[in-house]
Amino acid sequence: MKVENLFSVDKKTVLITGGSRGIGEMIASGFCANGAKVYITARSGNVVKETAKNLSEKYNCKCIGIESDISSIEGIKSLSNMVKNEENSLDVLINNAGAAWGAPVENFPEVGWDKVMDLCVKSMFFLTQNMLPLLKEAANNQNPSRIINIGSIDGINKPEFNNYSYSAAKAAVHHMTRVLAAELVEKNILVNAIAPGPFPSKMLGSAVEFDYSELESKNPRGRIGTPEDIAGLAIFLASRAGSFTIGEVITCDGGLVASAGHDLS
Ligand SMILES: NC(=O)c1ccc[n+]([C@@H]2O[C@H](COP(=O)([O-])OP(=O)(O)OC[C@H]3O[C@@H](n4cnc5c(N)ncnc54)[C@H](OP(=O)(O)O)[C@@H]3O)[C@@H](O)[C@H]2O)c1
Repeated sequence: MKVENLFSVDKKTVLITGGSRGIGEMIASGFCANGAKVYITARSGNVVKETAKNLSEKYNCKCIGIESDISSIEGIKSLSNMVKNEENSLDVLINNAGAAWGAPVENFPEVGWDKVMDLCVKSMFFLTQNMLPLLKEAANNQNPSRIINIGSIDGINKPEFNNYSYSAAKAAVHHMTRVLAAELVEKNILVNAIAPGPFPSKMLGSAVEFDYSELESKNPRGRIGTPEDIAGLAIFLASRAGSFTIGEVITCDGGLVASAGHDLS
């Protein structure tokens, strides 16, 4: 019952897509600080390798950066093969890489639909499919392996921005999480999703010109998310403490979904 046992991720092997910056880097920091071996991926090889080097030095851990574009099946297979060449098993897969597209409904382009749906939904499914052999290898009844999908409160609430494909994709991520959870629990693979609210990142920052003050003032907690908020929840889901929690979509949003429909002005 000690916290260090209940919430331990020590020596777990973790793969985080899109771990070079933003929410993926925040989650990677939490695992790196607590003894896990962490693989992070991104399309920009220089950036992901630099982030891995910084995290390794900061937390005295093994963080490995892999250059990979998972928007295609070839990219997914190539990433899977790279991990399989290094590891015989995988304890935690965190499907975090995502993209958004904003445009008015009248001229929302097909490319903005396909790019977002493909990366957020199709790639998440097929990377999961490709990593199943390694996840199964790590899994047993006492120590189930975990999949954590990063959704969004935009897949629950009406979104703040005109991101039609993104909010639909994130709703799909949440339902895919429930469907896969029901299927994989019997194989000792536990699937859950986190639905973040606003966290500082390139994705959110570019939508608000990196001025988060309005989002902070609209949030019931009076702030946006921090690395501790998102890493803490991911660590819970990956640890002994989270091993009876399955198929959930857990918000991490300062109370935005809980207070939707209330007048916060
Ligand atoms: N920030 C928020 O407020 C917020 C809220 C709710 C949900 N989310 C979700 O959280 C996740 C992370 O978002 P973020 O805000 O941290 O975004 P971000 O700062 O833009 O980071 C996205 C990450 O994904 C990588 N990536 C993008 N396309 C990729 C591809 N085709 N293949 C491999 N990696 C790719 C990026 O690196 P490269 O560009 O080098 O590939 C980067 O590491 C996303 O699923 C997003 O929908 C974010």
